Amino acid sequence: MKHLIDILDLSTQEIDELIAVANDIIAHPESYAHRCEGKKLATLFFEPSTRTRLSFEAAMYELGGHVIGFSDAANSSSAKGESVNDTLQMVGCYADIAAMRHFKEGAPLAAAVKSHIPLINAGDGGHYHPTQTLTDLLTIQREKGRFDHLTVGLCGDLKYGRTVHSLIAAMSRYEGVRFVMISPRELRVPSYVPEMLREKGLRYEETDDLDAAMPYLDILYMTRIQKERFSDEKEYLRLKDSYILTPDRLVNAKAELSILHPLPRVNEISVAVDDDPRACYFRQALNGKYIRMALILHLLEKAQEKGNSAAFAGDKDVVFDAAVCNNPRCISTIEQELPRAFRVRGGKRRCVYCECEA
Ligand code: CP
Repeated sequence: MKHLIDILDLSTQEIDELIAVANDIIAHPESYAHRCEGKKLATLFFEPSTRTRLSFEAAMYELGGHVIGFSDAANSSSAKGESVNDTLQMVGCYADIAAMRHFKEGAPLAAAVKSHIPLINAGDGGHYHPTQTLTDLLTIQREKGRFDHLTVGLCGDLKYGRTVHSLIAAMSRYEGVRFVMISPRELRVPSYVPEMLREKGLRYEETDDLDAAMPYLDILYMTRIQKERFSDEKEYLRLKDSYILTPDRLVNAKAELSILHPLPRVNEISVAVDDDPRACYFRQALNGKYIRMALILHLLEKAQEKGNSAAFAGDKDVVFDAAVCNNPRCISTIEQELPRAFRVRGGKRRCVYCECEA
């Protein structure tokens, strides 16, 4: 079964095709209005969402399909202790495809292990958010017309900002892309991100100085400081106003800069920036519906094909043993029956669910 857990589950060719379909949907929505008649999407949201859940639901309705699901873990049987894997096996009895958001890292992968329907990761803790990345890629393609030879500034909470991790993974496949990762030292990207960039020989810098980086950027990807991921409220209060983008700070930016933000924002982009033609974030949110329409069509079509492997089964780098992941945000810390699995690469063992080094 083909799932979308990590953006790298899609080849660059598949991403190009999704973007082409999304652009065609934008141009000819009527041609897609009946494509999912008789199909159901389940939205399984264990964590709050506005854009992702509603754009998934709007996407399925605009394809002529139906939607079932829940938007609060307290209203599902997870509140009684059901595992994500059992939940998804049940949902497979009622729906043709599912999208899951969960507060634990690796939960969608854990849920997908035995799933008979395609599962889409709609955000797992501070780990990944691949459909936001598809949204970002469609936006970059529509705003810039290309993915290569761009200097991409990523600013804010790069430690817990799951959209950043997925976007870097996706953009690292294109030639001549340079990353400028702008954050307080405490909120730098997790170690697996620079490790991956070094392995690929890609150019990146880590800095805390947004103003110094600004004149060089083609894309500025702002992110919110993720209050809900901090265990120490004082630390959040100390860091929450680290970056606030105002019109003054854009004086030295390129005229063709594109400002993206996955949203929601708190105060990191002043509303005074919204009228700047370089502000793309509301167009970006709309693009999310079209790319999710393209993704639903793609995964339902793939579900007809035989021979796709389940989750990480057959991955020769994966070893199974009884060791416990030491990341408290990992799904394996609350679901005792999950197979313990680690990916061994470059002499390091990383938990398959959350990618933390073991
Ligand atoms: N960008 C995003 O994931 O927004 P929501 O949390 O509102 O879904």
